[in-house]
Amino acid sequence: MKITKGIPLIDQHDKNGFYGGKFGGNYVAETLKKPIDDLTKLFQKCRNEKNFLKERDNLYETYVGKPTRFIKLQNLSDHLGGAQIYAKMVSDANGGAHKIYNAITHAMLCKKAKKKYICTDTGAGYNGKMFSMVAKKFGLGCKVFMGTRDIERQKPNCDAMRKNGAEIVPVNSGSKTLVDAVSECIRYWVSNCDKVHMGIGSLVGPNIFVKICGFSTAQISRELKIQLEEEFGEIPSKLKLINCVGGGSSAYGFWSEFIDYNKNQIELIGVEAGGPQKSKLHAAPLSKNSKVGILHGAAAYCVQDSDGQINKTESISSGLDYPSVSPIHCLLKDIGRARYTYATDEEALEAFKIVTELEEISPSLEPAHAFAEAIKIAPKLNESNIIVVDSCGDSLKDKDIIKKHLGNYSR
Ligand SMILES: Cc1ncc(COP(=O)(O)O)c(C=O)c1O
Repeated sequence: MKITKGIPLIDQHDKNGFYGGKFGGNYVAETLKKPIDDLTKLFQKCRNEKNFLKERDNLYETYVGKPTRFIKLQNLSDHLGGAQIYAKMVSDANGGAHKIYNAITHAMLCKKAKKKYICTDTGAGYNGKMFSMVAKKFGLGCKVFMGTRDIERQKPNCDAMRKNGAEIVPVNSGSKTLVDAVSECIRYWVSNCDKVHMGIGSLVGPNIFVKICGFSTAQISRELKIQLEEEFGEIPSKLKLINCVGGGSSAYGFWSEFIDYNKNQIELIGVEAGGPQKSKLHAAPLSKNSKVGILHGAAAYCVQDSDGQINKTESISSGLDYPSVSPIHCLLKDIGRARYTYATDEEALEAFKIVTELEEISPSLEPAHAFAEAIKIAPKLNESNIIVVDSCGDSLKDKDIIKKHLGNYSR
C-alpha cells in the first residue's frame, strides 16, 4: 500500500477497517457490532466539531500541560561521542505518561454518549491511572482490568487508581498480564455496553479504538514538530525518532506528523521488548518476525506457536509485555517506512542506569528500551545526526523492579 500524504495514517483503512488490505479489521462478536458502530458514528461527529476540539485542546493545555519539554541530553551525547541526542519529555504530562491523551478523548466521548461508567485495561498501570484520573474529573465510575502479575509489579500506579476511586478488577487467567486484561475488559463490555463506555489503552483492538487512540496521541508529534523548528530553524536533514513499542500508541503519536517525510531524512525506529537475554520468551512480534494472527478484534503480527495459539511473552516492562501490536505498525513495517528492533531486559536496565547517571531525567523501563537503541547507534553516527527519544513514562512506577535488579533506586 502507498501512503497518501496529508491524511492521518489511522484514517487510511478500507471500508472494513483494514490497513494495507490485511492488518486490523473488526473481528468482534455479533453483540458488539452495534455499540462499535454507534461509537464510530459518535467519534466521527465529535472529531469534526469545533467545540469538541476546543474543549480537548483546552484540556491538553490546562490539565495535561502542553507542550511537554523537548530537551538536549548534552551529557549523554558527549559520553557517547556521536549523534546529538534529545528527549521529548512526554513523562511531564499530568499523570506521568502519554496514556493521558487517549484517556481524555474517551472520557469526553463517554460523556457525549451519556454513559456514567467507563472501563479499560492496563499493563504498566499508566493507562488505568489516567482513566481513573479523568473518570474522577468527569464524575464517571471507573473499572480497570489488570493482570494479577502486573498488580504485583506496578504498585505505585495501582495505589493511584484506588486513590482516584477506580475499581481494579484483578485478572488471574493466562499469563496474568496485559493480554489477559484486554480480553477480560472486552468480555465485560460485551455484556455491559449499553451503560458502560470502553476505552482500549493502546493503538490496538477493533478499528475504531485504533483511530481514537491515534487521534489522541498525535498531539505529541504536533508539539515536537514545532519544537524541532524552534531549535533548528527547520526540520533537521538527518533525524531519527526512537520510540518503544508495546501496542504502539506512543510511537504512533510521536511519529504521525513525520510519516510523510522521506525515510532518508527522518528514520522512524521502534523498539520492542526482547525479554530476558537467557529466555526464548519475548514481546517483539515485529522485530522477531512473528506471523499474522488475530487478537483482540484485529489482524496483526502476533507472538504465536505453530498452531496459531498466542504464545506466552516475557518482559521486565509491563507496558511492552504484549504478544501483538497495532495494525498501523504492521503496515509501517511491511512498507518499510519504519524500522523495528528490540532491546533485552538487561539492555533496558543498563540504558536506564547510563541515562539516569548522566542526565536529570528518569525514564520508566518502557522508554529505557528506546534509550538502549539510541545508546547502540549514536556512537556510529556523526554530530550532524539528531536523535530524539520519546521519554514517554516516568520511572517511579518501576522503583521496586529497578531496586531489585540494580540494587538501588533514586530519582
Ligand atoms: C510508559 C509507557 N510507555 C510505553 C507503553 C507501551 O504502550 P504503547 O506501545 O501503546 O505506547 C506503556 C504501556 O503501558 C507505558 O506505560
